[in-house]
Amino acid sequence: MRKDTLLITAIAFGLTLAGIAGAEDQPISEQIVDVMNKVFGVHPGFRANHAKGIVAEGHFTGAPEALGLSRAVLFNGSPIPVTVRFSNSTGVPNIPDGSPKANPHGIAIKYHLPGGGETDMVINSFKFFPVATGEDFRDLLLALAASPPDAAKPTKFDQFATSHPSVPAAFGGLATPDSFANEEYYGVNAFLFINKAGARQAVRYQLVPEHLVHLSASDAAKQPAEFPDGRTAGAPQARPNNVSPEGAACSGGRFHQGPVSSLAGRPQSRGAGRFDGRQSSARQC
Ligand code: HEM
Repeated sequence: MRKDTLLITAIAFGLTLAGIAGAEDQPISEQIVDVMNKVFGVHPGFRANHAKGIVAEGHFTGAPEALGLSRAVLFNGSPIPVTVRFSNSTGVPNIPDGSPKANPHGIAIKYHLPGGGETDMVINSFKFFPVATGEDFRDLLLALAASPPDAAKPTKFDQFATSHPSVPAAFGGLATPDSFANEEYYGVNAFLFINKAGARQAVRYQLVPEHLVHLSASDAAKQPAEFPDGRTAGAPQARPNNVSPEGAACSGGRFHQGPVSSLAGRPQSRGAGRFDGRQSSARQC
């Protein structure tokens, strides 16, 4: 099913290999963005990926338990103002929020720290990333581009997925939520928290909603182009029950605490903090 999704993505965006090959002397970052522009089209003024999104404002308040984990000012228990951008995957600025191609959804959080400093967190709904290097990510996109419906089997994508089993595993863990708020988001990178006593704890971020809502493929297909939290603020509309009438976008949040390899079991450790917020723009890209 996930392979189909990937293939549909490749086909729907009218991939062509023309111009993609032969650029290996460029920095890998440029190669990837070039391939993305081929896959998703060039949309001036928009990000090459995660082009469609909404912005929310709110606060993050560290839980008392977090003080035992980290001495960072982020967890001092006072409300830290945040600017949050929820987004859809792909560089397509008008992709429907509920499209399977919009998975993984992203959340980028800027914490405005006391004293003027900032901390950024950029995470998405992949539980782990499909590949480990930029080169492999480029090659994944190229394999998709070379696997139209009429391609001989096994396609380039089939071959890539076989040699990189993390690819089908990662996409197989995705699902379509009914709103940006009712999704879980993961940081795939590990960080070290250091507390006041100098104790170090490896962590990966998890943002956990109060209500996780993942739709069936048929229900996802019935979703409007914009999730409820992405529609024009003030318009009458049904909202998920953890989203305020103002259009709050982010509910509960927590940090996964534990060995960095233990994500698969989803141990529900104590949360390290909580978000409260409201949408600040009806639709922002
Ligand atoms: C090879 C790996 C990756 C590539 C090539 C890639 C590429 C990109 C690009 C080109 C953008 C647009 C940046 C801009 O113009 O401002 C973007 C945005 C984003 N990426 Fe990635 N990305 C990768 C991995 C990840 C990972 C591991 C995560 C999270 C776990 C992630 C989450 C996001 C999010 C949330 C945004 C939107 C940021 C915003 O709202 O401003 N990406 N990515």
